[in-house]
Amino acid sequence: METLNISALSQPFDIVIDNIASDKSISHRCAMFSLLSNKPSTIKNYLRGEDTMDSLKIAQKLGATVEDNGDIITITPPSKLTEPDDILDCGNAGTGMRLYAGLLAGIEGSFVLTGDKYLRSRPMKRVTNPLRDIGAKIDGREDGNKAPLHIRGGKLKSFKYHSPIDSAQVKSALILAGIQSDEISYYKEDLLSRDHTERMLNGMGANISTNSNGWIEINPIKEPLKPLNLTVPTDPSSAFFFAVAAAIVPNAKVTLKNVTLNPTRIEAYKVLQQMGVDVEFIEVENIYEPIGDIIVKNNKLQGVTVDKNIAWLIDELPCLSIAMSIADGKSVVKNAQELRVKESDRISAVVNNLKLCGVSYKEFEDGYEINGNATLHKATINSCGDHRIAMSFAIAGLLCGMEIEDTQCIETSFPNFTEILNSLRV
Ligand code: S3P
Repeated sequence: METLNISALSQPFDIVIDNIASDKSISHRCAMFSLLSNKPSTIKNYLRGEDTMDSLKIAQKLGATVEDNGDIITITPPSKLTEPDDILDCGNAGTGMRLYAGLLAGIEGSFVLTGDKYLRSRPMKRVTNPLRDIGAKIDGREDGNKAPLHIRGGKLKSFKYHSPIDSAQVKSALILAGIQSDEISYYKEDLLSRDHTERMLNGMGANISTNSNGWIEINPIKEPLKPLNLTVPTDPSSAFFFAVAAAIVPNAKVTLKNVTLNPTRIEAYKVLQQMGVDVEFIEVENIYEPIGDIIVKNNKLQGVTVDKNIAWLIDELPCLSIAMSIADGKSVVKNAQELRVKESDRISAVVNNLKLCGVSYKEFEDGYEINGNATLHKATINSCGDHRIAMSFAIAGLLCGMEIEDTQCIETSFPNFTEILNSLRV
């Protein structure tokens, strides 16, 4: 088991970071969506984390050829996706499993999706149920709720589905199924979840739009889509660890380069602004999504209530809780029950580890209240095998030192995290 020892910073930093991990959500989609074309897709800055490399390996098992020159990854799809002769391993990635489930449900063949022990314990009914309702043949443990999932793909019906959860993974799985049926399908969510799937597929020539009643209209694709040709921007969720580092270290400043400024992804930065931190967004270009730099400067932090737009900051809440701990006054997180079914139960992982650092809190089924004004103590943190818990408490360690156990999980999304963390000291 790998352990990360962090010592407290002795001086502030003012740093420009241009090598933060590329966007995980977009990279997964590049691997999968390239299979919907009949020409090679070229992807620059593909995230070389374990999760997204697993998605790429699955594309290969389905017949794609992948050429990697170290800078650009070229994915050439097969003329027809092939039934693999082995299981498809999504590793730790919920995005990998749920999106591939939607894609494969519409393809002739037998497919088994599995993953590591954490992914095998996460709920899959949110995708397997609506997919079964439109004719997909899917089985798995607990009546299709837990992987391994066995999918026998084939013809799918069109649908009208109002999702009970605001989840980009569920939406994307249903969109991938919908574009393969013969008739137009409709999908609705109460809060727009991250919309990379719609933006990327439309960029490839699909026709997915939202009507005046808030239903997403998913038109079937009649012929192969255009290939992708894109540079994956920096992941705002990975960059956020260093935004919080700048927010909590007295007199610190960070410039985060080439980040996707997609409005569904930068809500946590807006919460930092609400807490009193100086945050500036500078849009530089717009290719599928707005992309630019984010500058974050330390300031005195105030407590905050986060109970809205939860899907827009779900991945950042663990790290936001570190800022909440030292803020002046109480902070509250509510309506965030989804945190319980992420890579770990992030509500209990956050509060149990904060307690070890000397923070007082109240835990709710759907969130927590953090008392604030804490002086954090060095502790031994259990990452629970969850990359975002490991990295959030590593950032807290910049104030007080920290020992983080079980940090191999950082490789799933942000392989050079420790290197960048160390660069804050020079
Ligand atoms: C993701 C969607 C989110 C997010 C995850 C990536 C995606 O999950 O937490 O890290 O790429 O679609 P949900 O859709 O389950 O909220």
